[in-house]
Amino acid sequence: MTSAARTPLEGRVAVVTGSGQGLGLSYARELARQGAAVVINDVDQQAADAAVDSIVEDGGRASAVVAPVGSTETATALVEGAVEAFGRLDILVTNAGILRDRSLLKMTDEDFDAVIGVHLRGTFVCVREAFRHFKENGVAGRIITIGSPTGQYGTFGQTNYAAAKAGIVGMVRTWAQEMARAGVTVNTVVPVAATAMTETVPYFRAAVEAERAGEPVPAFFRRDLGFGSAADVSGVVAHLASDEASDISGQVIGVGGDRLQIFSHPQPVATEYEDGGWTREAVARRLPALIAEHRQPVGETLPPLPEELQSQDAS
Ligand SMILES: NC(=O)c1ccc[n+]([C@@H]2O[C@H](COP(=O)([O-])OP(=O)(O)OC[C@H]3O[C@@H](n4cnc5c(N)ncnc54)[C@H](O)[C@@H]3O)[C@@H](O)[C@H]2O)c1
Repeated sequence: MTSAARTPLEGRVAVVTGSGQGLGLSYARELARQGAAVVINDVDQQAADAAVDSIVEDGGRASAVVAPVGSTETATALVEGAVEAFGRLDILVTNAGILRDRSLLKMTDEDFDAVIGVHLRGTFVCVREAFRHFKENGVAGRIITIGSPTGQYGTFGQTNYAAAKAGIVGMVRTWAQEMARAGVTVNTVVPVAATAMTETVPYFRAAVEAERAGEPVPAFFRRDLGFGSAADVSGVVAHLASDEASDISGQVIGVGGDRLQIFSHPQPVATEYEDGGWTREAVARRLPALIAEHRQPVGETLPPLPEELQSQDAS
């Protein structure tokens, strides 16, 4: 920014949705630090203004579009906001999100629609409008969508969120094919970090408390669980946004704390043939042994918390 050395994202313009706080703010600040001008988006005007101020105070360029992600109207306003404020758009990070956790029988239609609306529909409309802009203007754009371990493994009480986050990865697999010719990349980052979204999870309490106190997060969290601060996730986002990542598309990259992972896309783990097709009898004869050999686990298996990291009232 003030330094004479060229930064990787100098001259680029980014939109980061839901960037008033948490991970989105961390992505926005890192993109700005790497030279990009950033459009902050949030539903919270105060948080958005504070985010803009923090970037400008550090010598970066930022402006705010306060609007709820989910509609085409907001998606268009974000692209237009970038062009009006900074003359172009190169990078989109679709980070805005909410939770409405309940087990299946307690989950209302409203809980389901709200989460799908912000995460899945919000990602769809924002990416569609950004890609339209990239194609019309010959921009080799960078799209970074945000997934979750829940979308990869499933989590008790998160039907709506699992559907949205798995759906985002499904869209990315499709978009990587559709966008390749235009030179636009699209990937999913699966973050894990101490934010408002995770601070109430008892399992993470010792890590969140350390983070709040400005103390180092215990190595168990940073390495074994891949759980650290929001800043730990932003390097991957900034790299995927850069020229250096022009050959990375359609990938799902997990990051948190000291850990980085590449997720596989689903592939068959067993293939069998039955001449003439699979009657019920043929299935009954063959499937039990096949499943016994290849059964897939569901849910994420977390290691037991070491005793010294368990808080007294953690359930
Ligand atoms: N924190 C984690 O460990 C974790 C793990 C996996 C995935 N994620 C994902 O990362 C993203 C950010 O999560 P976070 O932990 O920083 O959460 P957060 O609640 O701290 O921040 C979310 C931000 O999005 C904003 N927002 C909510 N609805 C919006 C809308 N309709 N339009 C615009 N902004 C909106 C909120 O005001 C808030 O500023 C989410 O997509 C979340 O699902 C987080």
